[in-house]
Amino acid sequence: MTQNYVASNREDWNREAERYQERHRANLVGGNGLWGPVFGVPGESELKVLGDVAGKDILELGCGGGQWAVRLARQGAKVVAQDISDVQVELARKFAAGIEIVPPGSAEFRQGNAEDLGEWDDGSFDIVFSNFGAVGFVNIEVCFQEVARVLRPGGLFAFSWLSPFFDCLSDEGDDQLEIVRPYFDRSPMTAESLWPDGTRTLYVQFHHTFGDWQAALFQAGLLVTAVLELEPQRDRWRESTWRNVPWYKVSMVPSTTIWQARKPRVPLDQIF
Ligand SMILES: C[S@@+](CC[C@H](N)C(=O)[O-])C[C@H]1O[C@@H](n2cnc3c(N)ncnc32)[C@H](O)[C@@H]1O
Repeated sequence: MTQNYVASNREDWNREAERYQERHRANLVGGNGLWGPVFGVPGESELKVLGDVAGKDILELGCGGGQWAVRLARQGAKVVAQDISDVQVELARKFAAGIEIVPPGSAEFRQGNAEDLGEWDDGSFDIVFSNFGAVGFVNIEVCFQEVARVLRPGGLFAFSWLSPFFDCLSDEGDDQLEIVRPYFDRSPMTAESLWPDGTRTLYVQFHHTFGDWQAALFQAGLLVTAVLELEPQRDRWRESTWRNVPWYKVSMVPSTTIWQARKPRVPLDQIF
């Protein structure tokens, strides 16, 4: 694993945060609760992955500009949302301050690493979730153990990330696709940015196979209840802020994968 990937991503996302919010504003704000780079997939108001959130204690990992946290707080949840980027957390606080939430304060924002949830006691939350947030940037074995610890028995863990197939294909091509990375290559995907002041940052993202994701969840004591691979809709893709990815690619393989898992009321080693 690339050394200091957490510090590296913190720096990179601090530099990128405002640009990300600007570029994806149309997807992020609007209240539909979209589960990621929107290659035409429906949002939470249709999918109901989290179910009824009213009265629930929720932890969000990698919250970005806070749009999901605010949406859920407005539906009656008590949300704590964290992100590695100090700048994203500041933007989230500003966003929440500009929107009426009743009762006030039911969406809170903290800077932190999703691999270390030590701030919270065992069994603090009914739901932990992440929308294209932290899970692609962390050691998932460590992160999912922490998620399982802070969930209450029966609690729900849901997250979206890129499909492992999507990672392997180039973003070019209107009528054919090139495999640019072996599915089985677990080495980090990195990108260096050079900023106008001459500084450089390194973005570090991890690739896991479907089996890797499932194994990390199971080893953490979580049982997968659904894996959603949504078929895109061309008119929605056209409106998406990610429409630079060609429709050919989007329509050929799943782009967003949404995982839903539960912490059983009886520990797994007592079930089997
Ligand atoms: C693609 S953005 C998604 C943000 C937000 N969930 C949304 O829907 O717009 C990924 C986010 O993950 C955050 N992140 C990266 N590494 C993290 C880590 N180790 N712990 C927590 N958040 C992290 C980044 O700072 C960034 O805000």
